[in-house]
Amino acid sequence: MTRLSPASLTTRLPWRRDCPLPQPDAAPTVRHPLCSRLYARQVDQADELGMRDRRRDLLAGLTGDVLEVGAGTGANLAHYPAGVGTLVATEPEPYLRGLLETAAEASPKDVRVLDAAAESLPFADDTFDAVVLCLVLCSVQDQGRALAEVARVLRPGGELRFLEHVVSNRPFPARVQRTADRAGWPLISGGCHLGRDSVAAITTAGFTIERAERYDFRIPPLDPPKTHVTGVARLEG
Ligand SMILES: C[S@@+](CC[C@H](N)C(=O)[O-])C[C@H]1O[C@@H](n2cnc3c(N)ncnc32)[C@H](O)[C@@H]1O
Repeated sequence: MTRLSPASLTTRLPWRRDCPLPQPDAAPTVRHPLCSRLYARQVDQADELGMRDRRRDLLAGLTGDVLEVGAGTGANLAHYPAGVGTLVATEPEPYLRGLLETAAEASPKDVRVLDAAAESLPFADDTFDAVVLCLVLCSVQDQGRALAEVARVLRPGGELRFLEHVVSNRPFPARVQRTADRAGWPLISGGCHLGRDSVAAITTAGFTIERAERYDFRIPPLDPPKTHVTGVARLEG
């Protein structure tokens, strides 16, 4: 009889040694062939409706080595200030990463594009002066793990810049948003959740919110109205 160690039981089916089971700490695979194409078509419309200015506000004054996680089509690249040195942009979704690579090549900045999920960032501890999360915490599989990774790769005193849509602070819309998430909204929206309290998640991960501006934003006609928050957070000492 073959004896299987507990470790091999978590990684392989005993009767099919060639068939790996998902590992608990494996990085999620992000593949949204249809939604990523729809999102890419919406980005310019959102920018025309005011998102471009919000992106500029998000990135204003950044300096040093910066990581943008889940950079999508690269819509933020044009707005990074001159003071930014190394700029690394990760994107796990293949179609979006292709667009990001094209945007990076067209950028006057030296932008390094990598395939990585927020939950498993391929960088050493204390690598970056700032991390940017823009409309990403709604979509990651595991917010706690993603924010722990952001905290790990940030240098002491480094800042997290975030722009996220969050659950409404009014009870009825919040209930509708959470119900929609449970009913399958993420399945038709590329993994996006409407009812996440991402600012609370940032605080829970040990960050202190230094600045946060709440505002409503939507892309008509299909996009539901959503509260957005742009802010700056730092790790508590
Ligand atoms: C709404 S789009 C925002 C894209 C871009 N940040 C922007 O501002 O336009 C959500 C992004 O999160 C990415 N994403 C989804 N799951 C992720 C994960 N686990 N780790 C990192 N990025 C993820 C998607 O591939 C997509 O690029």
